[in-house]
Amino acid sequence: MTRVVYVNGQYLPYGQAGVHVEDRGFQFADSIYEVCEILDGRLVDEPRHMDRLERSLGELAIPMPMSRAALGQVMRQVVRRNRVSTGLLYLQVSRGAAPRDFSIPPSGLTPTLVCLARRLDGDKREARANAGISVVTMPDIRWGRCDIKTVMLLPAVLAKDAASRAGASEAWLVDAEGFVTEGASSNAWIVDKEGVLITRPTGNAILPGVTRRTLFDLLIRENIPYSERSFRVEEARGAREAFITSASGTVMPVVAIDGAPIGNGHPGELTLRLRSKFHQAAKLSP
Ligand code: PDD
Repeated sequence: MTRVVYVNGQYLPYGQAGVHVEDRGFQFADSIYEVCEILDGRLVDEPRHMDRLERSLGELAIPMPMSRAALGQVMRQVVRRNRVSTGLLYLQVSRGAAPRDFSIPPSGLTPTLVCLARRLDGDKREARANAGISVVTMPDIRWGRCDIKTVMLLPAVLAKDAASRAGASEAWLVDAEGFVTEGASSNAWIVDKEGVLITRPTGNAILPGVTRRTLFDLLIRENIPYSERSFRVEEARGAREAFITSASGTVMPVVAIDGAPIGNGHPGELTLRLRSKFHQAAKLSP
């Protein structure tokens, strides 16, 4: 349960927190967000989330709402005030509020900043990882700048909903050439017959995941080979293992794609090993 929400300089009770009806985030999805894992009351990979937030804002010419250090203070306060030990922190920065107009006001606006934290059931998440998840593939109908973490999430919402109706918990999005781009809210990975991990290279088609980046650090440390290259759905179906990465699930095994089992239909051995070691490679905030 979220009890306290930070909105534009104030810590407010959840039920009283709100933003302007003409916020450009609400009207145009003119807004950036970050989701950060909370482990033992500490933020996981905060610097990398901050780097990506700054980059996303920069790409849209939205100013940082405050200094990185001040933002870090707000994030940690929100975790503390909500007494979250295991959970997620959500941070959103919109361009601000103004009478509805597609044009961005040349004089600039004061960005809207919202930050909240929520508990997650760690045991449930572990049970999910031990069982593995199913994914279904569908066309990637998003825009050409998926590297920017905007709240323009309707294609992801619809993809997840279709996945859920098909009995799966994630959608793997597929580009016009038949290559998997990423999950609706995660990065997609497979392990080939030689034990090499494969994930799509960064670019405009995918979000450069923080979990993805930290997993590379772990792979280097553990001497596990990997390749940043695109893969097709057919290749994924024949993979030895598959998994997704995200702040909300870290390394989450995939056991079926479009109803067909991956490997022996159980979470992969390497995937589970990487999951158990993931936080050794992550940076925890003080
Ligand atoms: N989703 N790709 C997409 C499209 C995502 O939305 C996410 C994250 C990722 C993984 O990024 P990271 O490892 O930095 O979490 C990849 C978050 C968790 C969300 O929207 O809730």
